[in-house]
Formats: sequence, C-alpha cells, structure tokens
Amino acid sequence: MTTGYFFPHRHILGIDHLSADDIHHILTTAKSFKEISSRPIKKVPTLRGNTIINLFFEPSTRTRLSFEVAAKRMSADTFSIAAATSSATKGETLIDTARNIAAMNPDTLIIRHAFSGAPHMLTRYVDAAIINAGDGTHEHPSQGLLDMLTVHEHKGRLDGLKIAIIGDILHSRVAHSDILGFTKMGSGVFVYGPGTLIPRDLDRLGATVCSNLEDAVADADVVMTLRIQKERQNDPLLPSLREYAQRFGVTRDVVALARPDALVMHPGPINRGIELMPDVADGSQSVILDQVTNGVAVRMALLYLVMGNTPATG
Ligand code: NCD
Repeated sequence: MTTGYFFPHRHILGIDHLSADDIHHILTTAKSFKEISSRPIKKVPTLRGNTIINLFFEPSTRTRLSFEVAAKRMSADTFSIAAATSSATKGETLIDTARNIAAMNPDTLIIRHAFSGAPHMLTRYVDAAIINAGDGTHEHPSQGLLDMLTVHEHKGRLDGLKIAIIGDILHSRVAHSDILGFTKMGSGVFVYGPGTLIPRDLDRLGATVCSNLEDAVADADVVMTLRIQKERQNDPLLPSLREYAQRFGVTRDVVALARPDALVMHPGPINRGIELMPDVADGSQSVILDQVTNGVAVRMALLYLVMGNTPATG
C-alpha cells in the first residue's frame, strides 16, 4: 500500500473527483485485496459490523453482485434493494427512500440510478458514505477503476498507452469514467462511433474523436467496445442494428489493426454480433472476464477506503 498517503474522499461519486494519486492508491489497495478471492476461505474480518446497502434503480448483474461479493468477503453486512420491488413503485421519491434507509444507520449506500447526479444529491440528505454504481449517462467510477486495474495488470503501466473506445459514447457512463481515468493516468484515449452517439464536447474530457474506425484502432494497446444503450434513446439515433454491426462492430479484422498484444475489453452486457463479434469476445486477446474478477477487488478497495474514513468505524 502507498505509504504517507491518506485517502481524502468520504464518497466515490466519479473519477472526475479523483486525482492520479487517488487512482494509484485505489488500484494498489485493490491488488492487495485480490488474493483474498482465491483463498479456500474467501473472507477477512476487515469490515465486520459495517452495514452496506445496495440501492439499484436500474438493472445490473455484474456491478450489483460484485459489490455484494466484495462486501461479504470483507465481513460487512450487506442488503440489496431493487427498484422493481421497492416503494419507488408506489411513488416514493428518491430522497424519501434514501432518508428512510439512512434512518437504519447504514455505513455505506451504493446507488445506481437513471438520473445523472442522483448519488451527488444523496450526499446532502444522508450521513452514510455514498458510492456511485452508475448515474444515468454521467459516470460509473468503479467500472473505470476496474478497467484501469485490468489494463495495468496486463500492461504493467497506464502511461503512454493508446486506448480505443468504440460505440455509443454519448450514453455511456463507462466511457466517461474511462476517458477521465485513463487520461489522468497518462494514456491517450481515442474514440469512434456513429456521429449521433458522440457528444460534441468530448475533447473537453481529454479524448480524441476519430473520423474512422481505422484511426481509432491503429496501434492501440486496448480496444474497448460498448453496448448501444437503447434504453436511453428516445428517438432512433441509428439506422439499424445490422448496419451498426457492419460499420462499427469490432471484428477480428478490426482488432488486427491494433498492436498484436492489444487487449479486447467490454464492460458487459455484450450484445454479441452487434458491437462485438463472438469470436473476438471469446478470443485469446479478450480480458472481459478479468474485468469481472477485478471488479470484486476494486469494490473491496473502495468499500475499505470509504469506510476507513467513516467515524462509525473509527
Ligand atoms: C454498464 C452500465 O450499466 O453502465 N454495465 C456495467 O455496469 N458493467 C454498461 C452497460 O449497461 O452497457
């Protein structure tokens, strides 16, 4: 673990708020926790007596489960609420829901919500540490961190790499967190996708917008593809999925333009045959399941770091 460093954040709201030192410290902490998950008894007492509540207002498989697995491996008590079975369906506001949950004194609230800024808003209403598990199209910091951990593990560094991100950048909170994170750590991020799915101000985040797939992927160290977020598109922004697959889908020929040792990544869920072809998703360059494994370690690190700063655990 980094010496002489104190993690300064009570909440994890976005990569935007983290410095390169913070990111380095989180990744180092995550690496030190990784070994716990390969022990026969996968449990340490570090967060015993802490209460963690998962509050998911949008569907999730990996993120929700890996936060739960992470919390349980650290002996915290963890509870999950899915919007479909909560009083949100009876018209309760997010703030009321959060205040009622806060009345049960949790130490940490992990929230996923369609409203960009929902986790930030909750910090004003509850005492618990808040972790953003994806807010609308804004940020998904734990995904950005697990992506950086995966690349660092395979490449031994994050500086000076070329990261290509292909797909629906406009609606992807993963892309936003990755662009912020990888550029803070010294990588260059190159994006490509349909014109209607590229935000206008992307260079403000530090990414280079490419006008064709070849420029984005040429000599890349990482080729990351993203799902088209149909649930966030009111009007059709694409002609058809078949055309999308032809023009933007990542095939073996596309990956061949990148460096021979390039990593293929995807945050999941994959729409096989649309943004990523199955032989590439399952091919030798794919580290997609390493991303999932690293998700547990990164989330253990985040829980440990935010709760280390909670007076209740003092
Ligand atoms: C992503 C999300 O929910 O933002 N998934 C994830 O957390 N791994 C990406 C997506 O839904 O396409």
